[in-house]
Amino acid sequence: MVIDPFSIKKKYYRWYPLRVLFVAKSRFDDKWARLNFKRYNIPSKELIGLASPPEFDQRQTAVSPKLMQYLIAALKHTEHMGNAVVVEVGSYKGETTRCLAQSTNRKVIAVDPYFGYGATEETCKIFRNNVVDCNNVSHLKKTSGDAWRNWPFGSISFVFIDVLHDYANVSFDIDAWSQKLITGGLLALHDTANSGFAGSRRAAYYALRRFELWANPGNLVILQKSQRDA
Ligand SMILES: C[S@@+](CC[C@H](N)C(=O)[O-])C[C@H]1O[C@@H](n2cnc3c(N)ncnc32)[C@H](O)[C@@H]1O
Repeated sequence: MVIDPFSIKKKYYRWYPLRVLFVAKSRFDDKWARLNFKRYNIPSKELIGLASPPEFDQRQTAVSPKLMQYLIAALKHTEHMGNAVVVEVGSYKGETTRCLAQSTNRKVIAVDPYFGYGATEETCKIFRNNVVDCNNVSHLKKTSGDAWRNWPFGSISFVFIDVLHDYANVSFDIDAWSQKLITGGLLALHDTANSGFAGSRRAAYYALRRFELWANPGNLVILQKSQRDA
């Protein structure tokens, strides 16, 4: 099991040797990812005949209309997976959460603690306002790891991971959330083609050893859990 970076932060004081080592290793991993950015290239995989994306406010999310189209396509692809829920880890202002929720009858769980990393209580209010009409949305105001460890919602059919984009956090998120994904379910990772988030691409690259590539339209990698990974 990959270590949750937030649990290390929570458990050990700043200069505790284990935490210092963990931080040093994490920084090295990201530096390595930047230096080898080209090596971690993921082949492009575009899908044809996708439906147009829903209308949304592009000022409230870094997800482009093309990527929103792929997220909705992934959601639709898993629609037959009955009671298995949809999850967005890192929901920010809720613009993507709302688009997902309005495109499915399944439960959509948004995980975001709204402390730091560009999000505040004010962001949380915007999120709540954005999803106010979506009765199928539940919010867990927790970090990814805390939500995952105390998960009350059962299996997952589709998870969109859009949290911190360093190697340690993305590796943890892939490892953790994929364990709750049902066979055939999809896991999407944002910011996988941006050299500013080289760690994210490196983590996605290694995940390809375990999962099938379902789509990669550029800056969004969608992986499928096959029987082999179950
Ligand atoms: C890039 S934004 C998400 C954007 C959103 N998915 C969208 O489509 O508009 C990243 C979010 O991750 C949240 N975040 C930061 N640390 C987190 C953690 N450990 N677990 C879950 N969410 C976290 C931040 O509060 C922020 O809202």
